[in-house]
Amino acid sequence: MNSKDRVPASIDPDDIGYNDTPNEHFSAVLEQRISRRNLLRGGAAGAATVVLGSMGLTACGGDINSPAVPDPVVPPPPAEKLLSFSAVPKSLADLVTVPAGYTATVLYALGDPLTATATAFKNDGSDADFENRAGDHHDGMEFFGLSADGKASTSAVERGILAVNHEATTNQQLSSFFIHANGGSNTLPRPAAEIDRETALHGLSMVEVRKTGGKWEYVKDSAFNRRVTCLTECEISGPARGNALLVTKYSKDASKTRGTLNNCGTGKTPWGSFVSGEENWSGYFVRGAADNAARGNDKSVAALNRYGRSQGAASRHGWESGGADDKYARWNNSKLGASVDGSDDYRNEMNGMGYIVEADPYNKAKAVKKRTALGRYAHESAAFGKVVAGQPLAVYMGDDSRNEYIYKFVSTQAWNPGDAALADVLAVGDKYLDSGKLYVAKFGADGSGSWIELSITNPLIAAYTGYKFADQADVLINARLAGDAVGATKMDRPEWCSVNPANGEVYFSLTNNSNRTPTPSGSSALAPDGPNPRAYTDMKGTTAQSGNPNGHILRIKEALAGSTALAFSWDVYLFGAESGADAGKVNLSSLTADQDFSSPDGLAFSPSTGICWIQTDDGAYTDVTNCMMLAALPGQVGDGKKVTLTYPTTGTGTLAVDTFVGKTPTADTLKRFLVGPVDCELTGICETPDGKALFVNIQHPGETTSQANIADPSKYTSQWPSSIGYGAGKRPRSATIVITKNDGGRIGS
Ligand code: FEO
Ligand code: CA
Ligand code: CA
Repeated sequence: MNSKDRVPASIDPDDIGYNDTPNEHFSAVLEQRISRRNLLRGGAAGAATVVLGSMGLTACGGDINSPAVPDPVVPPPPAEKLLSFSAVPKSLADLVTVPAGYTATVLYALGDPLTATATAFKNDGSDADFENRAGDHHDGMEFFGLSADGKASTSAVERGILAVNHEATTNQQLSSFFIHANGGSNTLPRPAAEIDRETALHGLSMVEVRKTGGKWEYVKDSAFNRRVTCLTECEISGPARGNALLVTKYSKDASKTRGTLNNCGTGKTPWGSFVSGEENWSGYFVRGAADNAARGNDKSVAALNRYGRSQGAASRHGWESGGADDKYARWNNSKLGASVDGSDDYRNEMNGMGYIVEADPYNKAKAVKKRTALGRYAHESAAFGKVVAGQPLAVYMGDDSRNEYIYKFVSTQAWNPGDAALADVLAVGDKYLDSGKLYVAKFGADGSGSWIELSITNPLIAAYTGYKFADQADVLINARLAGDAVGATKMDRPEWCSVNPANGEVYFSLTNNSNRTPTPSGSSALAPDGPNPRAYTDMKGTTAQSGNPNGHILRIKEALAGSTALAFSWDVYLFGAESGADAGKVNLSSLTADQDFSSPDGLAFSPSTGICWIQTDDGAYTDVTNCMMLAALPGQVGDGKKVTLTYPTTGTGTLAVDTFVGKTPTADTLKRFLVGPVDCELTGICETPDGKALFVNIQHPGETTSQANIADPSKYTSQWPSSIGYGAGKRPRSATIVITKNDGGRIGS
């Protein structure tokens, strides 16, 4: 692909930040001035090891949908050793590549029909009816087993329901151009028919999958199949239900709203329900250019700005312009009505998004519930801490924008193992997720940390000058502002989190942060600190990328109290880096060419094997490799060493930052397992309970294609998955793949 045929810059609508609060940085306390000046520079040598020819894809027998058919005579499996597969080399090929001995198959792609009568997806821009098709931008995903007779089962390995997030849709300007015949319209007002397709592409899907004759397929006409879109009615649950901040024309009693939006990471509750995080929802709404004054410059303006909606800013797709129908009007959050409480307009509509939502994957008659007790922000995944009978449950979560926070929710109710019975799962969710305490993380420079409760009774919150909280529901709805009030630690974009089943430690992907600099100026720039210690320059071709372009994976160990602990210790499990980068300043984990990665995002431990799967959503290393997935066998917090990084500051000054680096991985503990097609991100991962089928999502292949080239498939940056024989048309499609091992073993062995 000639570079002129591509959109100039990589599209990353996730890479945003609105936190310019002056929270103290402990790095500022630590700053030590010594006389040294040195520009930290990522090693360009890594960029020279461009892969395609050097190792060759033929080394990897498992290209997706490869014609190689496993030997029908399956020999007895050898003794299992995890991570015994051969590492997959970095690649720019428009393919999914998995190790030799594995097979990856496309299972469920954008537009696939979900009812008996829905037509096959033509993939030429003529398809409509997306309420009955797979949505776009497959993201987080969980597997819910079904017995042979169609009952919920925690042990089923050949039949189940995949609950899939459909985060977003590919746009260069306003239009989701791959789903419209001519690429669609980028001017306002947008055609209602285009908007109707685009809204239906977002949300969730539940889709039945089955293994039949040794082959996994989705079941087109399953009664379990379900779509939830960003217009489907959802119930407000927990402390914010009925609160004045959630009153809208649609729900005057603040008990419901429409849709779940920009669903990113996921989780599975101990009682067998699906939870999903609403991430970058704010960009879909719009406020008029004079809305601040219309609101009397009341406190709602501060809240809206803190959550990313300044007056007059354009919405992502212009859905508010579709006409008078309420389903378009709801995207305009301007104060338009005369009411005092907002019951005659959608000035409060954005307060209905930004939650962890819970769904019953087995019962499509049950409305999705928004669990407001877990706070409102740009949610990624929700990971339950070690579940102990008689102890409260902890749920760990991140807020993915630059400089945002890490959170923990602790249930009021202690866990009763009898609640794991897969009965009325949303009723069980009411018990554990509607009442509890929400905490935000504050990291210490010495490897310690503390959880600060976000409570209206905290004097720092009650007396906060940046925003006047009315009550606890206001604290939860505006959790970012409450985090500001207590001085939470600003992080390098917290993405997924997951709990190591071996020891209960919690891992957080911190994907990257372009705002880290030893010499911060302006409200959003931050000096490096212990848990976010790197600020360096990495070259992508001739472009310098500054800050923490490759990201890292942080982990915490709770103090003895476990889920209810108010203190923890931390270290950095892995630093993303090019293998050729400076090992003293950038490649602090000493990653090899079989291990190097950038911008960790999806992260999940396998309950079966204990493998920590790491997925990337990267734009920094994509001159060398497409996004990827790695398998890891981590140790524990404190298994590595303390490292001090020194940075030149103004004049002859130097900033010294202590951090704690996890034990250097070996070829037995970290290895690349998969590389995806061009322009995709790897995200979403789940498995059958026996660990022998791994489901993974390929999101937005070909996303940097220029809309101007919609009529010329030869100029698409990717044609996956039709390029390997899945489905009609040549437009690239997000899709779920299933990975199996040819010898029938567990994935990652
Ligand atoms: Fe949807 Fe933060 O990734
Ligand atoms: Ca680079
Ligand atoms: Ca993500």
